[in-house]
Amino acid sequence: MTSTTPEAEPFEGPPAVVGDGKELYAWLKRMRRDAPVWLDPASGSCHVLTHADALRVLSEPSVFSSDFSSLAPPPEPGLPNFAEASLSVTDPPLHGRLRRLISQAFTPRTVAGLEPRIQAVTAELLDSVSGRTDFDLVEELSGPLPVVVIAELLGIPASDREMFRRWAEYLLPPSDEVTAGEFLEGGYAKTRAAELNEMADYLLGHVRDRRSTPREDLLSRLVAAEDDGERLSDRQMVNFSAFLLLAGHLTTTLFMSNALLSFDGTPGTLALLREDPSLISGALEEVLRYRPPVSFLYRLTREDTRIGEVDVPAGRIVVVWLLSANRDERLFTDPDRFDPRRTPGGHLTFSHGIHFCLGAPLARMESSIVLRAMLDRYADIRCGTPVYHQRPDIFGVTSLPVSVRAA
Ligand code: HEM
Repeated sequence: MTSTTPEAEPFEGPPAVVGDGKELYAWLKRMRRDAPVWLDPASGSCHVLTHADALRVLSEPSVFSSDFSSLAPPPEPGLPNFAEASLSVTDPPLHGRLRRLISQAFTPRTVAGLEPRIQAVTAELLDSVSGRTDFDLVEELSGPLPVVVIAELLGIPASDREMFRRWAEYLLPPSDEVTAGEFLEGGYAKTRAAELNEMADYLLGHVRDRRSTPREDLLSRLVAAEDDGERLSDRQMVNFSAFLLLAGHLTTTLFMSNALLSFDGTPGTLALLREDPSLISGALEEVLRYRPPVSFLYRLTREDTRIGEVDVPAGRIVVVWLLSANRDERLFTDPDRFDPRRTPGGHLTFSHGIHFCLGAPLARMESSIVLRAMLDRYADIRCGTPVYHQRPDIFGVTSLPVSVRAA
């Protein structure tokens, strides 16, 4: 009788994100070639690396669920449960019902109507650094702008924005403060119970106020939205507002900073965009492809399935690598090159399918307004040394010093 020793696992999991993520990108490229679907024996998770497989996983919510409640412990008594019936972590049919209600309030017209305010707030923020030749883009512009925009969209006083910013930080703690395990197991939430309750109470106050006195804002339109006799509950409205705070804030901050960083890394880009502003929207799409703010999305298999050549059992976490899909050489020529003229269709930065980002038009509009305003004001913009987030799930900088010369 011969005994068989199990073969050693030839692959290792993703490296920690250090600096601009060179090692991570090298790992993703190697895995795309050698193991495009990889069931990690250590964690049990399935990593999906190619664009085609990512697209399929995101397109099939009946197999690849967004509802992780079966993995999380029951919510702690006394703590707000922000995951409950929250759009991004629900499956059909609940997801469709929530999305239809929310889409009635969050329409393309709502977003378009914000344009003059975004222009005005951008001008105010740039005025506050006028006369300076050096400032931090994240601190002065790309950080505060999206918070003010979401506050105004919801109808919450922008003067409370410092509080908003603080809460967004609680909901997405820096990874060096808390491990993923602690976060999922609720240990982290316990340490921030006071702040999370403060946020839930604050939002609930505004929701109740709109029920009795509707105004011209998103919260009032959410209160009024009705689908087949159904309306959003207080809890659903609080959760959606809290989610917007998180989803629409840091991602957009990262997008704007990633744009300047990408343009700076490809000399001549800003001059090109100044000369031909019709290239701006295509160049911003290329930024989204090249440096997506969200590195990966999770899904959970509801049943045994097969992705590519790999059998994946039910109950497994699937890690859909947007960073990798967007650099898949099967779809994009010379994918590691940032090319402002590329106009790349098909990147997955805003996801795909039923959970496609509801705020994509807003994020695009905000970034385009900021870029146009900076091109108008400054004849020259140069980036100093950025400080990167050192966490696997988001991709971009926490600080970006810029040197500018007035036009
Ligand atoms: C560049 C900026 C942004 C990026 C990269 C981004 C990315 C994403 C991604 C990847 C998803 C899908 C999650 C999934 O499939 O599981 C998503 C969903 C969502 N995003 Fe964004 N987002 C951005 C800005 C915004 C903004 C500004 C808002 C609103 C103010 C917003 C609101 C939402 C909402 C409500 C969903 C949930 C949609 C659903 O589950 O049906 N996002 N976003």
